[in-house]
Amino acid sequence: MSTTKLQLHAVSKAFSHGKQPPQTVLDDIYLDIHQGEFLCLLGPSGCGKSTLLNLLAGFDHPDQGQLLLDGQAITAPDPSRGMVFQQPNLFPWLTVLDNITFGPRMQGLPEPHYLPQAQHYLRQIGLERYANHYPWQLSGGMRQRVALARAWLPGPEVLLMDEPFGALDAQTRLIMQELLNRIWSDTGTTIVFVTHDVDEALFLADRIVMLAAHPGRVREIINVPFARPRTPDALLVNPDYAIAKRRILQILREESTHLFDEALS
Ligand SMILES: Nc1ncnc2c1ncn2[C@@H]1O[C@H](COP(=O)(O)OP(=O)(O)OP(=O)(O)O)[C@@H](O)[C@H]1O
Ligand SMILES: [Mg+2]
Repeated sequence: MSTTKLQLHAVSKAFSHGKQPPQTVLDDIYLDIHQGEFLCLLGPSGCGKSTLLNLLAGFDHPDQGQLLLDGQAITAPDPSRGMVFQQPNLFPWLTVLDNITFGPRMQGLPEPHYLPQAQHYLRQIGLERYANHYPWQLSGGMRQRVALARAWLPGPEVLLMDEPFGALDAQTRLIMQELLNRIWSDTGTTIVFVTHDVDEALFLADRIVMLAAHPGRVREIINVPFARPRTPDALLVNPDYAIAKRRILQILREESTHLFDEALS
């Protein structure tokens, strides 16, 4: 039986903009995320996906409800919950290795505590030969691989990923998805992953949470039925793949149309 790692219980969040009444962004969200699960969040722009990740990270707090990690309230950021953004946000004046080891070095940990593991991740991301290069000497995909290694080095229990491959070209994206899948299988980290890409969600996720917008709510949770290990080629010829993809696209279309109508009214 799976254990619950993260729990959202009746979570609501509103933001105020000037003199306008507060805008409810997340409305009464209930969600249990299992230990070691790969969960994708999918929904129209502005439905509150990043807001949800920020709450899980502890960067921000809900107006109502609770977010729990192992049954304990999340109140502040913590190294047990790593975050990866669309932009790799590397320090340009630090080498690849120094970027990856930045966290433990700032904590004052001795080298033997983190260096072997950093070298392990450098190998995993295929950048062993680039340890002493600077970010400006790398491609966008290579930089995002460094960001992945940096996020995983402290051994987080949970990784929160906000469209981490959104800025990459299609081929690099596929490579990154396979890499992420491999590291996730090796580590068993619980992942909450935001994407706009239906194929990406179907390749990576155990479950896909479809959000509705204005205010953000859970509209539907889709169990992704494909056995692992998955390959993009095998999925493409699986008839269930087309069915799942069509269902998701239909929901996204409905939600986007709804938003469009709302904007026009
Ligand atoms: N710190 C903030 N202050 C005020 N409003 C905010 C803040 N953060 C988010 N919002 C508002 O909350 C809504 C949801 O934003 P959010 O970034 O969570 O959406 P999203 O689903 O991640 O969208 P996208 O797919 O475009 O990234 C938006 O209307 C946004 O303007
Ligand atoms: Mg966002």
